[in-house]
Amino acid sequence: MVTRRSLFASAALLPRAFAANDRIQIGIIGAGGRAQHLMKSLVRMPSAKIVGICDVWDANIEKASQMAGGVSSSKNHPEFLQRKDLDAVLIASPDHWHVQLLTDACAAGKDVYVEKPLTHELSEGAQAIDAQNKHRRIVQVGMQQRSMPHIQKAREIIRSGKLGKVYKVHLTWNRNTNRGGTIPQVDPKTVDWPRFLGHVPDQPFDPYQFRNWRWFWNFGGGTFTDLMVHWIDVAHWILDLDHPEEAVAIGDSMRPEWRWQTPDTAQCLLRYPKQGVQAYFESTFVNARNAAMIEFMGDEGTLYIDRGRYELHPEPAKKSFPYEEMILGAGPRGADFYERPDGERLHLRNWLDAIRSRKPAVAPVEAGVVSASSAHLANIALRSGQSAKWPDEDGFVPLFDGISLQGWEVDTQGLWSVRHGMIVGKHDGLKYNDFLRTKRSYGDFELRLQFRLLNGAGNSGVQFRSEPASIAHEVSGYQADVGQQYWGCLYDESRRKRVLAQSPVEALRDLDKNGWNDYLIRAQGPRITLQLNGKTTVDYEEKEPGIAPSGFLALQVHSGPGIEVHFRNIRIRELR
Ligand SMILES: NC(=O)c1ccc[n+]([C@@H]2O[C@H](COP(=O)([O-])OP(=O)(O)OC[C@H]3O[C@@H](n4cnc5c(N)ncnc54)[C@H](O)[C@@H]3O)[C@@H](O)[C@H]2O)c1
Repeated sequence: MVTRRSLFASAALLPRAFAANDRIQIGIIGAGGRAQHLMKSLVRMPSAKIVGICDVWDANIEKASQMAGGVSSSKNHPEFLQRKDLDAVLIASPDHWHVQLLTDACAAGKDVYVEKPLTHELSEGAQAIDAQNKHRRIVQVGMQQRSMPHIQKAREIIRSGKLGKVYKVHLTWNRNTNRGGTIPQVDPKTVDWPRFLGHVPDQPFDPYQFRNWRWFWNFGGGTFTDLMVHWIDVAHWILDLDHPEEAVAIGDSMRPEWRWQTPDTAQCLLRYPKQGVQAYFESTFVNARNAAMIEFMGDEGTLYIDRGRYELHPEPAKKSFPYEEMILGAGPRGADFYERPDGERLHLRNWLDAIRSRKPAVAPVEAGVVSASSAHLANIALRSGQSAKWPDEDGFVPLFDGISLQGWEVDTQGLWSVRHGMIVGKHDGLKYNDFLRTKRSYGDFELRLQFRLLNGAGNSGVQFRSEPASIAHEVSGYQADVGQQYWGCLYDESRRKRVLAQSPVEALRDLDKNGWNDYLIRAQGPRITLQLNGKTTVDYEEKEPGIAPSGFLALQVHSGPGIEVHFRNIRIRELR
């Protein structure tokens, strides 16, 4: 039903109709290095006018407001977004603020230019897409390669099939510059540090992290999110790739004196098996060979692109077409920026035109989400030391991020830890069972995980539809059993205290008592099925009344002789 209130709310979000000479009034949120670079173009554009600055640091507020001719400012973005004179905002804050600022700006009826990487976490993508689409805003993500004419031409060439089938894409962003050997001088009184932190847990002001936030996991994501995002977006855009199915990555800190948390030298491989493409990204800050470039490698030829040129090389043995190039940028190959093409100006112009026409900009939120997500997948692989699979492909989402016990509650401190991408439960002969439980509860679901018992000894299990029991350290609920005499059985822990369903011996033929095994636990209504290594061990129907149909999940180490149990690749799909 359309109420007066909802009518008013939607009317408030209606875009302003611009007359030919009207200027789009823009506010800057996050007025640091990047915003000031973009502002140099914006202040020269007759169709735009910067009318306000929002930042949390006095130094950048002063510089940016001077650049815009002395406009007013704020340190508080919700207050800033209430300004009626703003048609649009340009967001160039650190990455951990992008999606919140985008969401708030869209809800306030502003069109948005938001810097890459659009998201800081894989999980933020849906919120970002929703913000744009629900409020019908024009959003341009700062992936300016899409507006560069030579890259648009290169896109046409590749899509015409000239390279044959493209199997491989090689991406680099190499630099050899001192990035962070000194501690910046910043007067803490000039910074609203809690606002800079946002949702990041409180911590003392650190000028190094404040100025080098890119290289700290709380605020940025290192070279994959900072640099790879640009080129992987070009690969997605040209080859119509959606997202990688899998990533593997390695990284090292070759310059530990820089204090970065993220590696300064990192490489990753991304697989797109549906389209038969592999992408390979390498990045270092200790050698600038190849600098910033992307190469599309087809069976008829290779197309090299940097931010100033492309070169079309036929395969030497085939010579299917003559060498061809388009050079717009004067300067060394692979430079970060060229005067020509002025990607910043062209990309801003595309955004301003889209605001007037209400047609999507060239790099909308969906494109920003998928390129940032590819970088997040690479970071998950990097930080877990394991290959990372795209989470949503089969509807399963990870319950364990491979690096921390985030989302889990420890029963006894010190018994549970994370090692090499797995959860480790180590029990040194304690007299009680111990559990690592999820913070939230699940009703009907499918849970997949891998487990192993060190030396195949002892017992353990996976609890589900569980609740706290009356005795300390105990939980009650179903248990998918692991270990001697109970492999693949369904047990009722601390409640009926008995095996509810035995596993048939023949179903355990592929069991590896000393190695990794796959568990699939499915709980739907009264029916519970367990599969060990793909073989059904339990198909059980609950007939007793009063048994809880939902509850938390938990991993167990069993009392008795000291054991070590490992869990990894824990993924869940909720069933409705
Ligand atoms: N598209 C490109 O080629 C390109 C190039 C450089 C940077 N970037 C992106 O631009 C963004 C900014 O990078 P930068 O180099 O300008 O960083 P920066 O540190 O120089 O600037 C960030 C600014 O945001 C401010 N800020 C922090 N929290 C804020 C908040 N809650 N509200 C308002 N302001 C806040 C900081 O005080 C700072 O002035 C990053 O996401 C980066 O990836 C994109």
